[in-house]
Amino acid sequence: MRIPETLRPEVDRLLAVHAAKRTGAVPAKAERKDAVTAPEHLIEGITVLPPIDAIALMENYRRNHRRFDVVHLDPVYESNDAAGRQRFARKTIELIHAAAKISDHILCWGFPASLGLLVDRWPRNWRMEGWVTWHFQNAPTRARGWRAAQNACLHLVSENAKIHPENFYSDSQLDLAESGRLAFKPGPPNVVVSPMISGFALRSESVGFRGGQKPVAVIEHVLKMCLPTSGGHALDPTCGAGTTGIAARNLNAYATLSDRSTAALRTTQKRLLQSAPT
Ligand SMILES: C[S@@+](CC[C@H](N)C(=O)[O-])C[C@H]1O[C@@H](n2cnc3c(N)ncnc32)[C@H](O)[C@@H]1O
Repeated sequence: MRIPETLRPEVDRLLAVHAAKRTGAVPAKAERKDAVTAPEHLIEGITVLPPIDAIALMENYRRNHRRFDVVHLDPVYESNDAAGRQRFARKTIELIHAAAKISDHILCWGFPASLGLLVDRWPRNWRMEGWVTWHFQNAPTRARGWRAAQNACLHLVSENAKIHPENFYSDSQLDLAESGRLAFKPGPPNVVVSPMISGFALRSESVGFRGGQKPVAVIEHVLKMCLPTSGGHALDPTCGAGTTGIAARNLNAYATLSDRSTAALRTTQKRLLQSAPT
């Protein structure tokens, strides 16, 4: 049965509530008394779910044959030493395998050396479509040596995935493409340059989230390659401060956001409410 996209938010919400109850995948004890109890469809097309572990949520969507155009994963960072990287790889590979069952596109962020441990550990018949670097110049410098100013995003695709470089075309390139006269198909840059949200840099975007809030433009850049020009649907089960929701809205897409942390979801809800058109 095909469910109309307009009813999706409610269906997604019900599935998540059901999964949270069934698996007991609810927030840590300390957070429970302050739990987000009323998941809301806060701004047109953007849904925030109750707190739930990402694996439990994706597994429930798989069981219910619910698919998304892209799953965006930005799990919490482990320390960038050998032990931290191993921990990151162990947890993240599980997320990737769960995401691969409900989407043909996965975006996964991490420190380059940590993401490197994931290479070739993705599901069979999947491939790496891109390795996108987010370069920021406002990282604290180290004495001599390279600036530690890099984050990377793996873009993994199944053999059925359709990528959308056309979302990056100029109007004239789109005209040429439509009439079959675009001889050289340009690809978008795989290095995005944007300051990180820190101090005065991108202060207007900052929501005071201490868990690694990313700039909207950076997330928009990677989502664009995975979503149709309008009406696509992104799932972010590790949504943190909800940047994927803002980016999806800017791209005329739907988004379903969740996190296991009640505090993160509160931040997301507040941010979306403040950004909703009045
Ligand atoms: C780096 S933050 C995400 C930041 C987000 N991309 C933004 O720009 O605001 C990582 C988030 O992932 C959540 N997280 C990590 N592992 C998770 C899991 N297994 N299930 C649900 N949430 C998880 C954390 O609670 C945290 O809020």
